[in-house]
Amino acid sequence: MRLTILNDNVPSKGLLNDWGWSVLAEGKRRFLFDADTRGEVLAHNSKVLGVSLENLDFAVLSHWHYDHYGGFEYIAELNPGLSLYAPPGGRIEGLKVVEIHSAGEISEEIWTSGALDGFEHAVGVETPSGLTAIVGCSHPGADRLTKAILKVFGYEKAHLVIGGFHYPSRRTLERLAGMAEFIAPAHCSGDEAKAYVRKNYPEKFVEVRTGSVLEV
Ligand SMILES: [Fe+2]
Repeated sequence: MRLTILNDNVPSKGLLNDWGWSVLAEGKRRFLFDADTRGEVLAHNSKVLGVSLENLDFAVLSHWHYDHYGGFEYIAELNPGLSLYAPPGGRIEGLKVVEIHSAGEISEEIWTSGALDGFEHAVGVETPSGLTAIVGCSHPGADRLTKAILKVFGYEKAHLVIGGFHYPSRRTLERLAGMAEFIAPAHCSGDEAKAYVRKNYPEKFVEVRTGSVLEV
């Protein structure tokens, strides 16, 4: 599976940027995880990065905060009627919101953790290298979301956890390190968390920013 970071808080030359998070996942299925703040960012960056946001199989929204759903109107223009797997609490014109409450299968080898605290969910994707967990902002805790994903699949450890960890405590990062082979702190993780993982778990640390492409 290939993960293309369409926008992260950290900018890259030639790409538009703002505070937000959006990842295109392309494996057996093509889906968008979160849609940043603005369609213009997604349109520009996908073009420069050479990926299409048309013909998606589905989309996922981690939680109803603007820095994650702002670009979905643009995605709806490109993919009218597309299913958007999201926690309860909102709607997007042109998309079919499928409300996520509990853990379950979204598509072949792609599962949701269920909406933790009724607010935010994460997804897990099984790939040949193992389980990749993608998180949005981790308001319920990056460790809790990852644990929930592992439980759904019956895995002890994830291959990769990527996303916003919401300024995690050291304890949360220690727990994450015990649950994942690789850790890619992004979006709202904060410089301190990135530095902590880089220093204490250099073998696990994966640096991502706007425009990064990861193969898992
Ligand atoms: Fe966020």
